[in-house]
Amino acid sequence: MDVWWLMRTLPFLALLSPSSSLAASRTEYFEVGKDVHLSCNNVTWTDALYYIWKINITGVQCITSEGVSKPKYNNCTGGKVLRTTMRGESYLHIPSFTLRDEGMYTCETAYRGGAYKAIIRVVATVRPVLIGKLERDGGQLFAVCSAVVRRPEVEVLWKEMWGSLEVKRRLTPNTDGTVTIESWLHLPDDITKDSLTCVANHPSWTQEVSITIDIAEPPADPFAAELQHVIILSSLIVLSVVIITTLSTYMCLQGKNHGK
Ligand SMILES: *[C@@H]1O[C@H](CO)[C@@H](O)[C@H](O)[C@H]1NC(C)=O
Ligand SMILES: *[C@@H]1O[C@H](CO)[C@@H](O)[C@H](O)[C@H]1NC(C)=O
Ligand SMILES: *[C@@H]1O[C@H](CO)[C@@H](O)[C@H](O)[C@H]1NC(C)=O
Repeated sequence: MDVWWLMRTLPFLALLSPSSSLAASRTEYFEVGKDVHLSCNNVTWTDALYYIWKINITGVQCITSEGVSKPKYNNCTGGKVLRTTMRGESYLHIPSFTLRDEGMYTCETAYRGGAYKAIIRVVATVRPVLIGKLERDGGQLFAVCSAVVRRPEVEVLWKEMWGSLEVKRRLTPNTDGTVTIESWLHLPDDITKDSLTCVANHPSWTQEVSITIDIAEPPADPFAAELQHVIILSSLIVLSVVIITTLSTYMCLQGKNHGK
């Protein structure tokens, strides 16, 4: 098999380079649907001797490798291939990244002057759809921004500078493994703005996702409306009682007068 030359040369190269036992660990995030360019290091083929990638996706391992004047080896699926940049740097290319490409990607390389090993946790990110609404809770008005995400690393924030205004974050796990993130912004009664912008952000996104909520006409407070009804109704009852009492007293007096 083509990989055997690598297996034979690896121990020898490891002896050459004392740094080879050191493995750098990192996490890289990629957006679903985008093409992925995963680098091991930035040594060029002028100095590199080989690259070997061991990819572990949910326990299934595949290997893709390339060495100087050696044929490429690849038993990975999903179109994963080793490519070389214009500058001569080797990288792993994954076309149209999917959730099934998430896993541990280990690359090992040896070059003139050393060896390098990186263990890269490759994680998919999906841009969430943001939903904005106005809600009442305990008689108070809140602007609520929510997003369904795969991992709670996503930040849901309000764009406006609200100073000391209170923001509450709520995380609710869903049965499908996703998480609903909500940001509740307490709106004061004397609000002077017409709209608010909510933003979702993640270190891996090139662009943030945002939504604008119209707050010019907040929904009526159902509790306040109820209270108003009660007040009007009781006023009416009191008024009727007063009128009836006055009328009957008056009629009573009239009757007495007639009786005299
Ligand atoms: C790439 O090269 C720069 C210097 O040109 C170096 O500082 C950096 O650490 C290198 N990155 C990797 C991943 O090897
Ligand atoms: C691959 O990853 C799984 C966990 O997802 C781990 O249990 C297994 O030991 C790994 N296999 C190899 C060969 O690294
Ligand atoms: C790819 O090849 C390696 C080394 O021969 C083997 O351990 C692995 O199981 C193979 N993976 C697949 C998906 O065929």
